[in-house]
Amino acid sequence: MSIIFDNEKKAFLLNTKTTSYIMHIFKDKYLMHVYWGEKMKLPNMLNAIPPRGVGFGANPDSNDKTYSLTAMRLEYPWSGGTDYRNTALDVTFCDGSHTTELRYEKYEIIKGKPALLGLPSTYTESDDEADTLFITLKDALMDLYVVLSYTVYTERDVITRSVKIINNGKNALTIDKVLSANVDFEADYRDYTLMRLHGSWARERHIEYQPLAHGIQKIESHRGASSHQANPFIAMVSKDATEDYGNVYAMNFVYSGNFEAGVEVCELGKPRMFMGLNGYEFAWELKSGDEFVAPEVVMVYSNEGLGKMSRTFHDLYRERLVRGKYRDEARPILVNNWEGTYFDFNEEKIVNIAKEAANLGIELMVLDDGWFGTRNDDTTSLGDWTPNYEKLPGGICGLAKKVNEVGLKFGLWFEPEMVSAVSNLYNEHPDWCIHVKDRNRSQCRHQHTLDLSRKDVQDYVISAINGVLDSANISYVKWDMNRHMTEPGSALLDAKNQKEMPHRYMLGLYRCMNEITKAHPDVLFESCSGGGGRFDPGILYYMPQTWTSDDTDAVERLYIQYGTSMAYPTSSMGAHVSAVPNHQVGRITSLKARGDVAMSGNFGYELDLTNLSAEEKEIVKNQVKTYKMLREFVPSSDMYRLIDPFKKDVCAWEFVSKDKTKVFAGYFRKMIIPNHPDERLKFKALDPDALYRDVERNTEWSGDELMNIGIITEYGNDFTTCTYILEKIS
Ligand code: GLA
Repeated sequence: MSIIFDNEKKAFLLNTKTTSYIMHIFKDKYLMHVYWGEKMKLPNMLNAIPPRGVGFGANPDSNDKTYSLTAMRLEYPWSGGTDYRNTALDVTFCDGSHTTELRYEKYEIIKGKPALLGLPSTYTESDDEADTLFITLKDALMDLYVVLSYTVYTERDVITRSVKIINNGKNALTIDKVLSANVDFEADYRDYTLMRLHGSWARERHIEYQPLAHGIQKIESHRGASSHQANPFIAMVSKDATEDYGNVYAMNFVYSGNFEAGVEVCELGKPRMFMGLNGYEFAWELKSGDEFVAPEVVMVYSNEGLGKMSRTFHDLYRERLVRGKYRDEARPILVNNWEGTYFDFNEEKIVNIAKEAANLGIELMVLDDGWFGTRNDDTTSLGDWTPNYEKLPGGICGLAKKVNEVGLKFGLWFEPEMVSAVSNLYNEHPDWCIHVKDRNRSQCRHQHTLDLSRKDVQDYVISAINGVLDSANISYVKWDMNRHMTEPGSALLDAKNQKEMPHRYMLGLYRCMNEITKAHPDVLFESCSGGGGRFDPGILYYMPQTWTSDDTDAVERLYIQYGTSMAYPTSSMGAHVSAVPNHQVGRITSLKARGDVAMSGNFGYELDLTNLSAEEKEIVKNQVKTYKMLREFVPSSDMYRLIDPFKKDVCAWEFVSKDKTKVFAGYFRKMIIPNHPDERLKFKALDPDALYRDVERNTEWSGDELMNIGIITEYGNDFTTCTYILEKIS
């Protein structure tokens, strides 16, 4: 058992492979956090956890004035009591009061990991992989129960948490805020920084560090999506940490909607780290007898820096978050017509691109936006999922057949959650979109968001998308989502329930994704939201890969893919070669550089292949051949980030197969410096005693030489890149 309750010490010990997490029941009443870090036994002195008070701290126990909760480390803080810090739970009861007091009630330990009803979550394939602890806290006055759940993966350094609220009281109550995880650290805040992944459209998941300071520092989204602007990932990183050394405590939210996450440093200089649903756009009525389940937080502690943290997330997500056939199967190399044609295409043009793709060894032709209704620009037709027969005389079925005939699989773009202001669907059902009665309905890209909190709207989406997928031989779907919520409201919800809409939307979206993907187990689904606006573990549960960014420039992609790799594996990132000058930033990079960068993700092309010169076609053929070799091991390899593009003019990363026999490394220069010094690329995690062959250059190197002395990198013009594919030969 990886979870132990010591009755004498009144303490819980949770052991992952190399880490421990400890809680203690203080004075038989309060659940306290004791420890999260390197693996250890229960401390001898637990019973003597000293009560702690602080000036102007109120005492919850009139018989014992020695302690105040605001000076102690609570496992799941509530509102209205003697802890003045950020709360995990705010509830308003029927009498208008919003003071709670959560006292320890009981615990239960089970083998395995139960699924969270209606929500995405990491899973186990056998009950031996994990144990789950449920700790019940109770507000006695109102008969409110809070069940904290902790799953401990025995062979991974992962703990997942979620929270269930049960209203056993006689009256309804409102949950105003419910976080899924809270950790009160003993650490000195001056030793840590907060790392987060910020961004914007076409500039997603850039790494940013913020020194901790007294008060709350937090990131959040209340856009109705996890968002380009703030990814639901944070890490508390020790100031001396590197890729290989130092303490890192990370949290990632398995959810795709509004969230908040951050760290509060209290008056005593202790950090409180938290993550959960965003309390700003949220309120949930919980009737007597009802339950509410908050989404999962994945927690990873690493004492070997950022690299180990990332590899722990990567292994978990590709093995126990992503599901279905493509979890383990190689992903096809695709060509997508979006940047090649935008809306200006017809059947002939697409078939010609497919023919060229077949000659080059590409395996999948994806038709992007503009195939339905009367859509020739972005002003119309979302929601009207019938083919545009003017562009495609044989419809989707006819086009898919022709693409299949030239030897490619066929894939299709959808934006299922949206309705254009100009569309049949909007004319017929103007109340089906998110809106507030009598208020302006703001548009974004001429469209509204369908109100997926409604079952009738979910049913429409499920049947419309399933209908198209069943009508033709479709092997791949790009599921896009191109606007954020405004005027959040639903025509069907009562006045007092309007703030439930954003979370109900997510539950509705997850139902749609679940039903559609389950009905089409052989289809590869790739999610997208204006590029990587919903790159989160929630969506990865339904769809194994995400379009990383609309920005396909090779240099911009270094930052984006490097930042994304903090939490998400390479097998989750879509990465394509596009034309130059780049459509997003106007930069000109070589076809080689664009290919070298894209090969670290799910590889493809996003251009009109019929425009390539003979020389470019040769380069593409070779890239395709190389990627077919790489995809045999890179997606399941350990990733090592070698040089940080946020700190240097160069970026480098490396993928080492688990058995250390195969290696793929990329070294990418941004701007050159004249009269440059030699630069060596030092590899990591190879077998020091083995001999490796560079398959492209036909040179041989020993593992220790590659790691300790390194290879002198090639130097060319701006944006020179080189890749190294190594095979262990003895
Ligand atoms: C979004 C996507 C693009 C493309 C367009 C189509 O912006 O991120 O890749 O599919 O929509 O409208």
